Formats: sequence, structure tokens, C-alpha cells
Amino acid sequence: MNSMQTTQPQTTQPQTTQAFAIPAAIPAGEALRAIELSAALVTFGRGDKAVPALSETSLRINDGEFVALVGPSGCGKSTILRLVSGLVSPTSGAVIVGGREVAAKALRIGMAFQNPTMLPWLTIEQNVMLPLKIVQPFRASYRREKRGSFRDKAHALLDQVGLKGFAGRFPWQLSGGMLQRANLCRALIHEPRLLLLDEPFGALDQFTREELWAILQQLWLTHKPTVLLVTHDLREAGFLASRICVMSARPGRIIDDSAVDFPRPRNIAMTFEPDFVALNQRLRDLIVDARGVSAPVAAAEE
Ligand SMILES: Nc1ncnc2c1ncn2[C@@H]1O[C@H](COP(=O)(O)OP(=O)(O)O)[C@@H](O)[C@H]1O
Ligand SMILES: [Mg+2]
Repeated sequence: MNSMQTTQPQTTQPQTTQAFAIPAAIPAGEALRAIELSAALVTFGRGDKAVPALSETSLRINDGEFVALVGPSGCGKSTILRLVSGLVSPTSGAVIVGGREVAAKALRIGMAFQNPTMLPWLTIEQNVMLPLKIVQPFRASYRREKRGSFRDKAHALLDQVGLKGFAGRFPWQLSGGMLQRANLCRALIHEPRLLLLDEPFGALDQFTREELWAILQQLWLTHKPTVLLVTHDLREAGFLASRICVMSARPGRIIDDSAVDFPRPRNIAMTFEPDFVALNQRLRDLIVDARGVSAPVAAAEE
């Protein structure tokens, strides 16, 4: 069992504390069939201090889908990611991943958050290879392979995200955008069937963000993991996702679930076309409505 998952305190904000979580591997070759939340409800704390974070939510995601979750701040988006990763258990209802209840069996998951937390004393290559050192079945042969096929794997991913030649640098020698590219490589190196992304590009400038959309799209087209992306950037959701779920304000639930059928590979020019702008506008209206309903609750909370 991997300590990175078990030692993760449930009350911290993962954006600032954790760059990735890599629960122990499912057997090689076993496909992650789907994610299913059945009436999953989450309340943090008890009694007077109880915070309802997520209303009864049902959601089914098929293997290989790219789903974006959007909604007002505090509506429970990160809570859904934590449910799926097993970092949080539902107060009631069930969370099934790969046909099994989460926590009943460890899964191979890749995660990336807003701030890519690299270990500063390791090179980019070593940071990217870290999951291979921890997750089975890679762990068993890490010592033997780290200068061989594992290194080739790291370099292939770094090349794919435009970081050729940076493997030997240290994290502090890279820009924020470059670090987030390396972070994506680290989230994918152990070939997870499921990639959980929590506002991964939120801290980047618009141009860097757009570059990374194209890179993430390419990574998804190549490796085809199931992706669950939390974002508040509606253009980002429309550019990347095959399906967008909109959530209501806290305690959130899914109020809209639509397929996004624009052809791939998508490009930035497409985001200015009328169909895309109309989708953006519709999502925006839904979120503005959702926020309006809960404004007094949100105000009371602050
Ligand atoms: N560990 C926790 N303890 C208490 N309340 C929490 C905890 N985690 C999240 N919350 C609350 O639950 C709600 C949903 O949180 P979260 O899923 O992080 O929202 P989002 O990611 O949509 O902004 C928020 O109001 C948040 O303050
Ligand atoms: Mg969040």
C-alpha cells in the first residue's frame, strides 16, 4: 500500500500540498471500466460543525472519456475527485471505480493539481520517474530499470510535452508552465487508467494555459486514460472535454451533463467559432444561475 495515499490528511487542500497521489497498482492489463457515483453524498464534520459538501450525486463515466466538472467555487468539485481517488469516503451512497467500491481495492491513478509540487533536490527526470519507484509493478524492477527503459519512458514523455533537454535540470530552474508540463508527465508515467486533474492550469497565464491544453489533448489522444478535470475555465472545458458536467452551488449536485462533439484535434481558433462561443455562453448562464440561488449560503459561510 502506498503511504502517499494513506498519509494524505483529508482536511487539507490538495492544490497546495500534493502534486500527485499514486495508490498501489491494479494488476497490469486490468482495465478501469468506469467510474460510478451512486447517490454519493458527502458531509464533513458532525453535529453543529457538519458541512454538507456534496448533495446526493450520481454520475457514470465510461473508460476513456474526458469529463470536465465545472461549477461555482465550493460546490464540491474537488470533493468528487477525492471520492474517486478514495481520499474521501462518501457519507452515504457508493463510489465504484473499475467495477469495485473505492478503497475495497487499490487503483492506479494519476493526479495533478494547480501547484506542481516537485521535490527540489531531485532533477526533473528523477521527479517524473518517482511514481515508478513507488507503484507496483514498476517498483519491483525500479533499481534495475531506472537507467534503462524507465528512463526512456520519462524522456519520451518529456519530449512529448516539449521539455526535451530539460531532464537534468532542477525544478527551480524551470518556469511555472514548464513545471506543469513535467507534472503531467509525472501523473502519466505509471500508465494510469485514470487521471484526476484539479484546476491544473489555474495558476498559469492565458498563453501558457492554451499551450498546455493542446499538450494535454495530445497526451489524452495518445494514452487514452479516463480523465476527470475540474476547472473554472469554460473555454478550457470546451477545448478539452468530451463531456461537461455543471454543478449547482454547495452542497453541489450535477445540474447539466452535455456531450461536447467538436472534432479533434481541437485548436484555439475553434474556441472563437460561433458553436463554441454558444456552448460557453450556455454553461456560463447555468453557473450564474447556480451561484445566484446559493448566494446567501455562501455569504453566511464567509
Ligand atoms: N475536509 C473538509 N472539512 C470541512 N469542509 C470541507 C472539507 N473539504 C471541503 N470542505 C467544504 O466542502 C465544500 C466543497 O469543497 P470542494 O469540493 O473543495 O469545493 P470546490 O472544489 O468545488 O471549490 C466547501 O464549502 C468546502 O469548504
Ligand atoms: Mg476545488
